[in-house]
Amino acid sequence: MMNSLINHHIKSANEIISLDKRKDTYWRVQARQEVSYEVILNRGLLEPMNSTLANTCGVSGVKKEQRLVVIDKVVFDLYHEKLNTYFSIWNITPIWKIISGNEVCKIMDQVISVVDAMIEAGLLRRTQAVIAIGGGVLLDIVGFAASLYRRGIPYIRIPTTLMGQIDAGIGIKTGINHEYHKNRLGTYFPPVAALIDPMFLKTVDERHITNGVAEIIKIALIKDYKLFQLLEQEVNKLDAHAFSSNNLRINEIFSRAISGMLEELEPNLWEATLERAVDYGHTFSPSLELRANPPLLHGEAVAIDMALSIGLALQRNLITVAEAERALNLIINVGLPITHINFTLDLIDTALNDSIKHRNGLQRVPLTARIGDVIFINDLTKNELSAALNYINFYENKLVQQYQVS
Ligand SMILES: NC(=O)c1ccc[n+]([C@@H]2O[C@H](COP(=O)([O-])OP(=O)(O)OC[C@H]3O[C@@H](n4cnc5c(N)ncnc54)[C@H](O)[C@@H]3O)[C@@H](O)[C@H]2O)c1
Ligand SMILES: [Zn+2]
Repeated sequence: MMNSLINHHIKSANEIISLDKRKDTYWRVQARQEVSYEVILNRGLLEPMNSTLANTCGVSGVKKEQRLVVIDKVVFDLYHEKLNTYFSIWNITPIWKIISGNEVCKIMDQVISVVDAMIEAGLLRRTQAVIAIGGGVLLDIVGFAASLYRRGIPYIRIPTTLMGQIDAGIGIKTGINHEYHKNRLGTYFPPVAALIDPMFLKTVDERHITNGVAEIIKIALIKDYKLFQLLEQEVNKLDAHAFSSNNLRINEIFSRAISGMLEELEPNLWEATLERAVDYGHTFSPSLELRANPPLLHGEAVAIDMALSIGLALQRNLITVAEAERALNLIINVGLPITHINFTLDLIDTALNDSIKHRNGLQRVPLTARIGDVIFINDLTKNELSAALNYINFYENKLVQQYQVS
């Protein structure tokens, strides 16, 4: 039997093969990848009997399992006892990797340190999803590391700031800053799921709550007039307490913001279309954010950009004076800035040129058309930018003077 097999192989090795005379010089490879992940709003995620987190980790509680948990230092200090109780009840052994979650830490060194933790944890490639708990900075870093490690491993996002819960934590973008360039290195990499628990917001300081409100105002201005009205009416209640408690009107604001964001992201997840309504407030702000001194949070820089965009829309008669003032007043009344000492015409012009590169050669600047709708502009001039900036500075001065008189 063995001999006849060897003889057959020798025979076929000596056989003369006629060539097909193929002269192929061109191949196209085409494939599609389906993306599906859940965004789950779930109050009391860390309550011991709440199975949502355990289920998302693929854990039933019967067998002992270990998971790498990358967590923001501040969140670890505040919540590690609750987390430890939860993990022990569900038989999960956490391997903690604690990192700092501030904008200055959104750098490659942190990505590498998370990758090192992944190696050290000896993760199974497919079934031991990394759990990321923190604000937008931490989620961007961990998502980036997860997309690089073994060319992609599963991870779960648990955003703990308002910015994270209504924006940074629910899309598929990851990234870090490079020199003065915001999010210059990054990937598109969906998580297994994003678990949103507003209870985390209880401990977020007011400046960071307001920071998140900026992105909610953005959604209102570009697509949801009712959300805009709700924000106007609740303007004095948009605090950590309200967002973390069961306030019906604040809950409505919260879930409209998430729905609005996802409606915009889902049909354009990889940004095939560069006309993105959610880029509203993100044309001039990326250049301002990393250069601002005194420093600005992301949402604050977005607010200043939105104010300029309102000025631009007003000049083009896309909105009325009354609408422009309503929009500016909402931004101001929630406690966001509309100007900054570094937001000069030169910076604005440089920022627009950088955005043109990011948007592949066209301005594609989203502006509000009425409140609650958006159009894209490609022919903004420096004169218009200058006039809009003057209008915003003038408007702010007028308010300051009124305040001093009263
Ligand atoms: N990937 C995206 O699609 C996307 C979208 C929007 C924003 N972002 C990014 O998100 C970042 C901003 O996110 P952020 O505002 O969450 O900032 P952040 O991650 O720096 O968090 C803000 C601060 O809050 C602390 N913190 C986090 N959770 C807390 C809690 N529950 N209680 C108390 N303190 C808490 C953090 O330690 C940090 O000091 C920016 O870098 C921005 O570029 C990304
Ligand atoms: Zn943003």
